[in-house]
Amino acid sequence: MSNTAILEINGEKHEFPLIVGTENEIGIDIKTLRGVTGGVTTIDPGYKNTGSCESAITFLNGEEGVLRYRGYAIEDLAEKADFLEVAYLLIFGNLPTQEQLDKFHADIKKESVVDDDIKKILDAFPKTAHPMGVLASLTSALTAFNPSSVNVDSEDDMYNAIVKILGKFPVLVAWTMRKKQGLPLNYGSEDLGYVENILKMMFEKPNKPYEQNDILINALDKLLILHADHEQNCSTSTVRIVGSSHAGLFASLSAGISALWGPLHGGANQAVLEMLEGIKEDGGDTKKYMAKAKDKEDPFRLMGFGHRVYKNFDPRAKIIKKAADEVLGDLGVEDPVLDIAKGLAEEALSDGYFVKRKLYPNVDFYSGIIYRAMGIPVEMFTVMFALGRLPGWIAQWREMRLRKEPIGRPRQIYIGENHREFKSINER
Ligand code: CMC
Repeated sequence: MSNTAILEINGEKHEFPLIVGTENEIGIDIKTLRGVTGGVTTIDPGYKNTGSCESAITFLNGEEGVLRYRGYAIEDLAEKADFLEVAYLLIFGNLPTQEQLDKFHADIKKESVVDDDIKKILDAFPKTAHPMGVLASLTSALTAFNPSSVNVDSEDDMYNAIVKILGKFPVLVAWTMRKKQGLPLNYGSEDLGYVENILKMMFEKPNKPYEQNDILINALDKLLILHADHEQNCSTSTVRIVGSSHAGLFASLSAGISALWGPLHGGANQAVLEMLEGIKEDGGDTKKYMAKAKDKEDPFRLMGFGHRVYKNFDPRAKIIKKAADEVLGDLGVEDPVLDIAKGLAEEALSDGYFVKRKLYPNVDFYSGIIYRAMGIPVEMFTVMFALGRLPGWIAQWREMRLRKEPIGRPRQIYIGENHREFKSINER
């Protein structure tokens, strides 16, 4: 195979090197394009064909339904690892030894409190505020309380910022939910695991000690692992691009949370459950909604279906579908919405419209059913996604900084007015 690509513009040929990744993905390196062509640029709305970086964190093959973090199959990690091990793996590149994991956890625990004044900010939000908006604001506010985390010039500075946010973020998540529910704001406990502490902080009632439940711990561990990274998706690209201006980690993460909030991205898990509830209340006629999803005049989309990259199946959805059956069975919860979801999925998988466009259930299709069975309110679903994605965002931000990537600054093709003479207001 030739290791260059040739581009001919106006009869002039330009040669560009090919970059080949460790999984033999090929990219055309056009770093010199504007220079050698005198300003020709590329245009690719939604970046469907554009690689924004070289990354050693996550590999996914959408055609074959493969997802690996640092080389490890998502199926193995979801089955055999816990969330904190996966966080370490994503951020630092290798599975931790027990000693490394203990130190990492101890460092995080030291940071698992937030400045008490954060409560004043939280108090200023109306109870009706969407938790994702509150979480983005509080994450950004952490910058003001931890200014040393902004200018990270060394790996030590980065490490300190990383353990700080891994410690404080679950507190913000739990408080966001508790504030909405009118529950007192609490903290985790030094002697609990990372995921156990999340459950304690979220569900502890003021009048009795929280009892841990292995089914919930395992279910949450699995869900968080499945969401932990997904290479250059919308929110991750946001984190990298905001971080590329050397804005601090917390500000970059806050921007990522806002990007995740949208219903085409992480907000889909809330939208799926609302859609399934809507179908149930409307008599459970899945065929009617399939027809709506296919009707180009109707803005309705089958939420939880389709993916920019997966054109075969989403391996995360496979694992979650199985987990949904197990968790609901273990908890003794019967949810008619799970049957509607399965019915919709079956119909879609054999429907010409969906088959032709390669639309399969994605990670968000079944996750909400598990969250709800665990007692998590629908409006918190995307917050749970953010909690899972946190290590991925951190890993990608750290990689971007360590590789000293340039500030993200795409070009455009201008299609507006040519030069116009200014007219004063009474001449217009
Ligand atoms: N229901 C009905 N039609 C769909 C759907 C859907 N969910 N998704 C895509 N299509 C159609 C779309 O109308 C288009 O049809 P046509 O070729 O006739 O114009 C074709 O499939 C390709 O869709 P697209 O919007 O060009 O594809 P995309 O890669 O830009 O968008 C997507 C991917 C995930 C935004 C989209 O599939 C979607 O809106 N899905 C529903 C929202 C959702 O579940 N999002 C969660 C994504 S997974 C979690 C995450 O990573 O955030």
